Amino acid sequence: MVVMTNSAAVLADAAAYAAAVEEASVAAAAYYATGESGLDDDAYDRLARGIAAYEADHPEEVLAASPTGKVAGGAAVGDVPHTVPMLSLDNVFSAEQFATWTASLERRIGRPVTAWSVEPKLDGLAVAARYRDGRFERLITRGDGTAGEDVSHAAGAVVGLPERLAEPVTIEVRGEILMTNDQFDQGNAIRTEHGGAPFANPRNGAAGTLRAKDRAYRVETTFFAYGALPLPDSGELGETLAELPHSEVLSYVAGLGVHTAAGTDVAPVLAATVEEVQARVDAIGSLRAALPFGIDGIVIKADLAADQREAGSGTRAPRWAIAYKLPAVEKITRLVSVEWNVGRTGIIAPRAVLEPVEIDGSTVGYATLHNPADITRRDLRLGDQVMVYKAGDIIPRIEAPVVHLRTGDETPIDFPESCPQCGSAIDTSEQRWRCTRGRNCRLVASVSYAAGRDQLDIEGLGATRVVQLVDAGLVADFADLFTLERAQLLALDRMGETSTDNLLAAIETARTRPLSRVFCALGVRGTGRSMSRRIARYFATMDRIVAADVDTLQQVDGIGKEKAAAVVAELVELAPLIAKLVAAGVNMTEPGATPPPEPGTEEAAGADAEAGGDGGTGPTLPLAGMTVVVTGAMTGALEKLSRNQMNELIERAGGKSSSSVSKRTSLLVAGDKAGSKRTKAEDLGVRIAVPEEFAELVGAFLAAGENA
Ligand code: IVH
Repeated sequence: MVVMTNSAAVLADAAAYAAAVEEASVAAAAYYATGESGLDDDAYDRLARGIAAYEADHPEEVLAASPTGKVAGGAAVGDVPHTVPMLSLDNVFSAEQFATWTASLERRIGRPVTAWSVEPKLDGLAVAARYRDGRFERLITRGDGTAGEDVSHAAGAVVGLPERLAEPVTIEVRGEILMTNDQFDQGNAIRTEHGGAPFANPRNGAAGTLRAKDRAYRVETTFFAYGALPLPDSGELGETLAELPHSEVLSYVAGLGVHTAAGTDVAPVLAATVEEVQARVDAIGSLRAALPFGIDGIVIKADLAADQREAGSGTRAPRWAIAYKLPAVEKITRLVSVEWNVGRTGIIAPRAVLEPVEIDGSTVGYATLHNPADITRRDLRLGDQVMVYKAGDIIPRIEAPVVHLRTGDETPIDFPESCPQCGSAIDTSEQRWRCTRGRNCRLVASVSYAAGRDQLDIEGLGATRVVQLVDAGLVADFADLFTLERAQLLALDRMGETSTDNLLAAIETARTRPLSRVFCALGVRGTGRSMSRRIARYFATMDRIVAADVDTLQQVDGIGKEKAAAVVAELVELAPLIAKLVAAGVNMTEPGATPPPEPGTEEAAGADAEAGGDGGTGPTLPLAGMTVVVTGAMTGALEKLSRNQMNELIERAGGKSSSSVSKRTSLLVAGDKAGSKRTKAEDLGVRIAVPEEFAELVGAFLAAGENA
């Protein structure tokens, strides 16, 4: 079911109320004048609800400028009177509110409504298109509902509004003009090419495009009809339309050649019961993210003409229709920075880092940016307020900068001059930039990672050397390191005898690293140093890790269902590499770890009952069941150990390593210059040991880990 946000701004006093009215008026005026507003929908709605709530409590204080006094949609613009007022719709935000609304409608007409039309609430702006004898005559905006602006000049670029109808009828078709996502992208591209500011979102784009006169370029929009009514000289058609169910009016209009939502995934459907309506509401809600145009809700209408007639209309909205609002999927937030990530094939893709913002129940901190040209085309700048769209499972996207919110402090986005992954040159001949190393770019990065200090720790194998090896075709994955020959290395530039022998010796040592480090070197997503240690300690051998299914992997502390599935999938892909490592004689076991018993054996039943049973480490280990934090500089026997090596040591000795002190910490190893962690441990009464005491505690394991 769709969950609604319907919170309101809380206005404490008359001054806060006046300020809110002012803010709403400025936003509405800006929106209706230019198609742009400094408030996103959510913020505007919250403000409007706050104003309405205040007015309900203080009816004597209502200001003339209040947005609640108008036909919703804004100020009067234009001087073409509407034959019948263009009304707005009341809103509901939940299944309960919808059920209450249907009950009151049915009470009013004295019978159940047996046919509901359930249709998308198109997120654009309402217009009336008049046709005389089948020819297009005039296009009018809603304006204040009683009179609108003549925007006939724009009709030629509105897809779905034909110049001639299929029959020579005189009729007014009403509906929504919007920009599809494609039209929005194309429109903004053309606009910025001509030096114009991009539209913040498709709705603003449609509004601005309708109003614009004498543009040097053409921007298309799309019309969707959602109703029709006769004009004074429509003749018999008037009576016919008055008796047709709404659904048939829509089919009739479509038959005349006018575009409706009929061909879309969210086409209007008829529902007989409130339950059926709700099912369609939910279906439309989940289709929303994938639609090629924006919707902001679902409109539900009593379908039969008699039901509509008897329900009648208020001054603002009809009583036979309601808008079931969907949560806002657009927010304005700040573009903080741009990251450049290199994909598997060497494509360098920019990603926007945003000031985190909550949209439709999730926090959005990043958005896709397609390529550098796209950034230029959209004139995005660091520090810009940007309109961000996020619905359902789609990756959030920036629609455009909100140009009129610029302060002048925005700065250009720097494009990388060399590959951010490997430092090589960038091929900028295509829209999507690519590292000149292509797929080998990732290879350099993944081999360098594998050789890194916390993985195989191969001294003398920095990125430059890896680049050399890859370029010479000697290394296609990091397993190839283990079969490098002396002569091959000597043939490389700047590789003398000493460096060659040192490198070969370092590789030899790497062959005997514990499984946790070999596994970490594989670079399986989501398995960094400590997760790799946990996995290695749990399974003890690579064979068992590879054989583990999703359920078994979840036995490892910190691995949930999703991560387990991802690890299993990635290990399948890595099977050839692992086989190559095995063939090269790389160690595939974790010293000191005992594998978990086979499920279903007697041993397994016993192990389950064992306190703190952590996959075979056994209860005799000195740190069994303990959570240990290390802080400050280590001294004595521990002096040379990196933090990662300290954590390895803790885990070999049966403990769990952690980086922060809490109530659950069993021991803090505090070296020289230990700071806040020590204070916190003292406050919490956590046991504290100096490095020497700790070294004594884990002495045996210290020796065992010499090679780690
Ligand atoms: S019916 C008298 N149907 O939503 C009935 N309106 O918030 C009024 N809208 O002013 C309109 N999709 O601009 C109707 N399928 C739809 C609609 C729709 C979008 C807009 C329309 C209206 C506004 C009210």
